[in-house]
Amino acid sequence: MRQVVAVASLLWLLLLPWASAIRRSDFPASFLFGTATSSYQIEGAYLEDNKSLSNWDVFTHVPGRIKDGSTGNVADDHYHRYEEDVELMHSLGTNAYRFSISWARILPTHLNANKMPRLPKTEGRFGEVNQLGIEFYNKLIDSLLLKGIEPFVTLSHYDIPQELEDRYGAWLSAEVQRDFGYFADVCFAAFGDRVKYWTTFNEPNVAVLAGYMLGTYPPARCTPPFGSCARGDSDGEPYVATHDVILSHATAVELYRRKYQSKQKGSIGIVMYTTWYEPRTRQRTGWRLNGHWPSRFHGKESSELTPTAELNVHVDENCDLNLQRFFPPARCRFLDPIVYGDYPPEMRRLLGSRLPSFSPEERRKLGYKLDFIGINHYTTLYAMDCMFSSGCPLGQWTQHALAAATGERNGVPIGPPTGRSMFYVVPDGIEKMVNYIMKRYNNLPMFITENGYPQVGEGYTNSEEWLDDQARIQYLDGYLTKVAKVIRDGADVRGYFVWSLVDNFEWLYGYTLLYGLYYVDYRTLERKPKSSALWYKRFLQSLHEDQ
Ligand code: NOJ
Repeated sequence: MRQVVAVASLLWLLLLPWASAIRRSDFPASFLFGTATSSYQIEGAYLEDNKSLSNWDVFTHVPGRIKDGSTGNVADDHYHRYEEDVELMHSLGTNAYRFSISWARILPTHLNANKMPRLPKTEGRFGEVNQLGIEFYNKLIDSLLLKGIEPFVTLSHYDIPQELEDRYGAWLSAEVQRDFGYFADVCFAAFGDRVKYWTTFNEPNVAVLAGYMLGTYPPARCTPPFGSCARGDSDGEPYVATHDVILSHATAVELYRRKYQSKQKGSIGIVMYTTWYEPRTRQRTGWRLNGHWPSRFHGKESSELTPTAELNVHVDENCDLNLQRFFPPARCRFLDPIVYGDYPPEMRRLLGSRLPSFSPEERRKLGYKLDFIGINHYTTLYAMDCMFSSGCPLGQWTQHALAAATGERNGVPIGPPTGRSMFYVVPDGIEKMVNYIMKRYNNLPMFITENGYPQVGEGYTNSEEWLDDQARIQYLDGYLTKVAKVIRDGADVRGYFVWSLVDNFEWLYGYTLLYGLYYVDYRTLERKPKSSALWYKRFLQSLHEDQ
């Protein structure tokens, strides 16, 4: 498989002009250039210094869940090697670092309380503040600042204390809103004097999709006909979980605005996973539904469109709303309420009472809005309409589905393939995505919080083969060129983070997919720069050369 991907990528490289003209000076001087990671994926030390179990600790220990049977128990051992990792960032010349805080490290379960020193009272919310956890992030933040690297902090990057699941079903209970608010409060109080960029959640659209529909991420709740769900946990759960995430976000933002922002002078946002969709067929364009949504169905009046067809209408709109039956935690479902105070009206029409409503008090909370949107963007796919086109593949995404995502048209892939299936190199996609988000959300400031290239890895074996990652260089070069362009064209993009600093635990793929600028030898945990690290460094240095 690796050879096939390598040959295919090489062929594409020959077809594409080598475009390495991008320079640091093509971006504003204040632009943040960084790398990104997350707690579970790199920290390890899963039971050290009072940390309690997270949902991912528990999930990865169930045999068969993770491709190579691995866990994040040790991961990159960043918990003990953070100074070395900060040194890597410094040697790259980055001025920002995006990382997340492990909730279970900061607020472990009460079970650990007897081992801990006396700690501040928790006002009845979940967990005791673990001073050792606070100290770890203090040390990390201080080392970053010492090297001129801005901390860009995610409060929750998929991992939450397992006890929240066990006690009340985490995101399925409104109780989580206050617990998340409490966790945020502890973090703002402890780190907010030095952290100026906060995000509440990383990719809640993915966490809810995989956790409550596909059943592939914790808590592994499954809603047929999605994924390989054999059982139906509950049809409404994805919407309840979405609602609680949105309101947890709002709780943290309200708290930040009221209690911290004027003193700490930071900003707060949220990060969404985004795929750009191109219509697989192009013949139906230009028609408007409700004066608002362009339709694929040229020549059709709205009265002719069944509710089913309406779903497909949105395929071209790139809001993912189109895919709501099969990708229900779509980004607009989160961003519209957060920016505009409610779900899109189309969702309400389609879902009726299955979609929870915001009370007047919740609407007030949503009024605190966002300072910026974080965009994780990797690839572009074709959207296909299963009602009107033949050949809609039945399978993971599409059983009974009305639309589907696919990577090929007439056997031709949408872009050079990468080491991950359904991930293609399509630099134009990031430009279109940013433009789309800019228009839909009134040019709120944006950060590209993740962009990166997956290589096929072989887990714990060491190999020089992964070090000369020319395809990753091509990818980053192409995407950065488009980010520079979209900024020139007026988008307020303020930073860009490569996923990832180091190879790490890639969720269901374990250590079999490598995203790092640095290779990690999992026998020794030694880090080695790949060619892409040297490329990023040279790119960042080009500012000085230009002056
Ligand atoms: C998005 C997620 O935020 C991150 O955790 C993951 O490793 C990368 N994408 C790559 O899949």
